[in-house]
Amino acid sequence: MYTKELSFAFDQLPKNGFLDVEVDPTLDLVAEINRLKKEKNAVLLAHYYQTNDIQDVADFLGDSLGLAQQAAATDADIILFAGVHFMAETAKILNPNKKVLLPDLKAGCSLADSAPADLFARFKAEHPDHLVISYINCTADIKALSDIICTSSNAVKIVESLPKDQPIIFAPDKNLGAWINKMTGRQMLLWNGSCMVHEIFSLEKITQLLVEHPDAEFIAHPECEAELLELASFIGSTTALLKYTQNSAAQKFIVGTETGIIHQMELASPQKTFIPAPPTNNCACNDCPHMKLNTLEKVYLALKYEQPEIIMEECLRLRSLAPIQRMLDLSAQFGL
Ligand code: 13P
Ligand code: SF4
Repeated sequence: MYTKELSFAFDQLPKNGFLDVEVDPTLDLVAEINRLKKEKNAVLLAHYYQTNDIQDVADFLGDSLGLAQQAAATDADIILFAGVHFMAETAKILNPNKKVLLPDLKAGCSLADSAPADLFARFKAEHPDHLVISYINCTADIKALSDIICTSSNAVKIVESLPKDQPIIFAPDKNLGAWINKMTGRQMLLWNGSCMVHEIFSLEKITQLLVEHPDAEFIAHPECEAELLELASFIGSTTALLKYTQNSAAQKFIVGTETGIIHQMELASPQKTFIPAPPTNNCACNDCPHMKLNTLEKVYLALKYEQPEIIMEECLRLRSLAPIQRMLDLSAQFGL
């Protein structure tokens, strides 16, 4: 039997996006999360953009491809996804019989929001000879309208695996699409979407930082705008950026992506210096407001009460599964 407070929190869940229940401030959340994971055979998957405390308690930490691969391979009964909605949704698409939890249902993504399904369906219908490749940062409805899904880790290889004369629509990230066009010499038709975090970096301030730190390397995620990528010594997914900082001889990096990844960079290379690339305003805009909606408390509550859960219609799940599976199969072929 739930208390009155708990019943109210459950009733308010659709409005709040999370279980708004008071947590005993003396509780050791890390120990409780670890205990509940074991008791419930649950796995905690977390993206690099999560807060440090969530990263530290995760069973698997990764970029979008690594997390999708983990979700496809896990034999846990419950997947608790510390990331944003499209990531948990992808885990559900791959695991119809498992419970998939997201600490805060309102953890969305500006990039996914920039492709409404009705407009995209119309755009696709205007180009019937085009194959549709969609970045995994999109809703299940967009995935269902796509032929192949990709992430920033495998996008170039997936595009290169297609015949050179194959017309392609790439959605929803115009910056990633433009970078792939540059890398592959293709002319994919780009949907006009973007990530609010990766578009906020200031070219002027980064240029200034490079003058002040001539020994630093600027590294960037391909969701950044082209003029910024031109400045970068290395461009890659979050996992690729992390590996690069470990292998490069440089001792100082200006990091052009969400700040969460810096925690792993510092753990992997404690002797090196990492400077978050500055945004145009004096704000913390290079912290993704969606990713940062998740907190350790919400992770604990989600695991304890097994809510909020991702629920999906089976026909949509099946239509969105095929292009994800194609991505996973191709990635395995590429050895990714
Ligand atoms: P990756 O996880 O592919 O590096 O993408 C970063 C991102 O923006 C996820 O939302
Ligand atoms: Fe979406 Fe950008 Fe946040 Fe990633 S960092 S979840 S692409 S808004």
